[in-house]
Amino acid sequence: MDHDTTRRVNASIDRDDPLAELDRALRTRPRTIPPRWLYDDRGSELFDEITRLPEYYPTEAEREILATHSVMIAETSGATTVIELGSGTSDKTRTLLDAFVAHGEIERFVPLDVSEATLLYAAEVLAQRYPDLAVEPVVGDFTRHLSRLPSGGTRLVAFLGGTIGNFHLEERRAFLGALADVLEPGDWLLLGVDLIKSVDRLVAAYNDSQGVTDAFIRNALRGINRELDADFDLGNFDYVPLWDAREHRIDMRLRACEPEVAHIGALGLDVALEAGEELRVEISTKFDPAAIVAELADAGFGHTEFLTDAAGDFGLALTRRR
Ligand code: AVJ
Repeated sequence: MDHDTTRRVNASIDRDDPLAELDRALRTRPRTIPPRWLYDDRGSELFDEITRLPEYYPTEAEREILATHSVMIAETSGATTVIELGSGTSDKTRTLLDAFVAHGEIERFVPLDVSEATLLYAAEVLAQRYPDLAVEPVVGDFTRHLSRLPSGGTRLVAFLGGTIGNFHLEERRAFLGALADVLEPGDWLLLGVDLIKSVDRLVAAYNDSQGVTDAFIRNALRGINRELDADFDLGNFDYVPLWDAREHRIDMRLRACEPEVAHIGALGLDVALEAGEELRVEISTKFDPAAIVAELADAGFGHTEFLTDAAGDFGLALTRRR
C-alpha cells in the first residue's frame, strides 16, 4: 500500500478514538486535521452563516431542486420512512417532508445526527409541525452508526448538502457500500452533490469576502487548543483554499507563516511546523453527474434520476437499492 492509502485505512480503524485519529493525522504529509474538529457549537454556527453567504451557492441551489421536485420524489418513492443523515436543524428537509405528508405514504421521519442537542430540538419542532408523523431521532455518526437505523417499510435515506464531498474516494466507496448493506432492495437514496463548475465560482464559495469560511476552518485549531490542552498560535496561520483540478476538489488548508512548535498536551505531542507548512483541514469534492451515477451503480444503486437546479450548479441523485 502507498503512504496515502495506509493513512486512510488507518483513519477508519481509529475513528472511534479521536485522540489516536488526530495523532495519526498530524503525522502524515500534508498534516491533516480530521473533520470532526470543525463542528463544535461555534463551528456549527459559522457553517450556518456560510450557508447564507452570497458566494456560497450550494444551499440555495439544493433548496431550489427540493422545491421543484419534492412532490415527484414523494410520489415516485412511495417511502413510508424518511431518514436524514447529518440532519442538523433539518431546515431544507421541511420542503421534502411537506411533500411527503401531502402526497406520499410517509409514516415516520428518522433524523440522525451527532449533535444530540440540535437533533432533539429539531425533532421537537418537526413533531409539532407534523402531528401525524412519528419523529424518531437517532443520535449517531453517519460514518459509523448506520446499523442504528430502523428497518421496515419502504425507506428513503436523504444525505443532503453535498456532505459526501468531504470524503476521500475510498471513504466515499466505503460509505456508499455500508449504506447499500443496511438498505433492502427497493429502498431509496436521495444524495446531494455539488457539481464541477468554473474555478472562479468554486474558489469564491470557499474564500468569501467576509472571512466566514476562514473563521470556520481556523476554528478547528481553536477547538483542539481548548479541548486537548494545545497551543496552536491561530494568528500565525493563513487560510488557503486551493482548487485541486486533478481530484476535482477544494482543499482547505491553514499555512503557518512563521515556524512554530505547537504542543498538544493531551497527546504529549510537539508538532514542529516549518514556515509555509500547511495543515489540510477539509476537502470538498465536486462531481461530474455521470461519474457519481457510475459510483452509485458500483455500490448497488440503480435507476438513478439525476436532478439539478436551473443553473446546473448542484445535483440531487434519486436512486434505488437494487
Ligand atoms: C457541509 C460539507 C457541504 O463542503 O461545502 C463549506 C462544508 N466548508 N465551506 C462544503 C464547508 C467550508 C460544506 N459541507
